[in-house]
Amino acid sequence: MLALILALAAAATPVPPGEQPVDPYAAADANAGATPVAGQRLWHAFHEQPGVDRIVDSLVSRAIVDPRIAEIFKGQDIVRLRRTLKEQFCYLLGGGCRYSGREMAASHHNLGIQTKDFNALVDDLQQAMSRERVSPFAQNRLLAKLAPMKRSVVER
Ligand code: HEM
Repeated sequence: MLALILALAAAATPVPPGEQPVDPYAAADANAGATPVAGQRLWHAFHEQPGVDRIVDSLVSRAIVDPRIAEIFKGQDIVRLRRTLKEQFCYLLGGGCRYSGREMAASHHNLGIQTKDFNALVDDLQQAMSRERVSPFAQNRLLAKLAPMKRSVVER
């Protein structure tokens, strides 16, 4: 009965054009490019959310001034990039986050990214993880999750 009343009320008060509700915050884990690792050991090795936040901030800050790849980031939404990368890394590392970003191929479409650019970003990520004192073993586990995404990111 309540549902019927609500449905009638909704039908009686159409939303004026231009005032349509925005899309709800969409979690789209399937877009994250890989599945999470099992367990929480890797999440702990990355020092959990504060560690991942520091690594992503350090990675993005390095990448946008890295003369090898800085040009690719010009004019892009860096605030969104930091947010979605933090979500993606947390998701992949078993931190239990939801990923709300686009899929990898769509995100990097038309950016002209080449293998050398991919390698430069990995280099920046390794520096960011080392600065956070993540062990080489744990670093390699994240890199192993990211490596297969190369085919979606690099343009041929
Ligand atoms: C495995 C490697 C990579 C991962 C996991 C990754 C992850 C991401 C994520 C999560 C986003 C945001 C998606 C969204 O906005 O919904 C993104 C966007 C972006 N990425 Fe990557 N990325 C990778 C490689 C690269 C490389 C190698 C470059 C350039 C050297 C790059 C440059 C960019 C740029 C410029 C954007 C913003 C594009 C836009 O907003 O339209 N990415 N990436």
